[in-house]
Amino acid sequence: MKVAVVGATGLVGSEILTVLAERNFPVTELIPVASERSKGKEIEFKGKKYKIVTPAEAITLQPDVALFSAGGGTSTEYAPQYAEAGITVVDNSSAWRMDPTKKLVVPEVNGDVLSKDDKIIANPNCSTTQMVVVLQPLHAKYKIKRVVVSTYQSVTGTGVKAVNQLMDERAGKDGEKAYPYPIDLNVIPHIDVFQDNGYTKEEMKMIQETNKILGDDSIRVTATTVRIPVMGGHSESVNIEFENDFDLAEVRQLLTEQEGVIVVDDPANLKYPMPKDAHGKDEVLVGRIRRDESQDKTLNLWVVADNLRKGAATNAVQIAELLAKKGLI
Ligand code: A2P
Repeated sequence: MKVAVVGATGLVGSEILTVLAERNFPVTELIPVASERSKGKEIEFKGKKYKIVTPAEAITLQPDVALFSAGGGTSTEYAPQYAEAGITVVDNSSAWRMDPTKKLVVPEVNGDVLSKDDKIIANPNCSTTQMVVVLQPLHAKYKIKRVVVSTYQSVTGTGVKAVNQLMDERAGKDGEKAYPYPIDLNVIPHIDVFQDNGYTKEEMKMIQETNKILGDDSIRVTATTVRIPVMGGHSESVNIEFENDFDLAEVRQLLTEQEGVIVVDDPANLKYPMPKDAHGKDEVLVGRIRRDESQDKTLNLWVVADNLRKGAATNAVQIAELLAKKGLI
């Protein structure tokens, strides 16, 4: 299969290359795509070197599938052109996620919605993806009424510039800033731009995308998204109120059985999920599983995943794998 990776030089793009190689996706030809600045440079994939081309050039090379991770602007401009040329796009930006004509997919959760008419498929926001993988089996069993989530998000979610800012600050060096404040030894309760309602766009993404992926607008979600000086992954404190009561042992069982989830929950032995442990893994780790004793039928969870993996690259590659399995690419 001819596979284009748009944004191949970025943090998510390079993770996509790693995941494609690791999972042995049947790539017969790789087309690495980046901006004019990177055109002509070489990228290595599975021991072979490939020259970087621009998004427009890649269309003429007719890949079967294009995995986009080069920001919303590039996706808005080029995804329709790729689709028009018969190239299926899996898009990691927020450009198409809430478009009612586009599917928003986490394969373990709603992979069944994909059909041959889908030419641009949206990959959800990283914080949403790791949460819905955990919510889905619980929603199916107990019906979720409301979710209150607070996130502790890695700087890798912002991109190379943010990682450099953290490293520069640690080394006491001046450099480019991705954030309006220092991130080292700090916590910034602000991810993406503020909206008129006082929420940030990241928070609104978590709310709207959760409803869309779980296919249930009756689930009420509220979110506070926070950037912390961490590299390995995003963490989330998730409080879930259900319609029906649950049994904690059964909750553990459901989560243990959920594809793509690993339960790490043994407080007696100080075992709980941390970004250090999630780093480099495709699975979502869940722990601190306990009743919310302040309210009936309510559960507390701690959910951690590598935001560049399940939150971005892995999920995009899994969508491509599913498309291939269904014969849609
Ligand atoms: P480039 O390296 O040429 O700038 P990150 O979010 O980690 O910084 O990565 C952004 C990715 O998106 C990079 O691969 C970057 O390529 C790519 N990119 C940014 N702007 C464009 C554009 N206008 N066309 C194609 N790729 C782009």
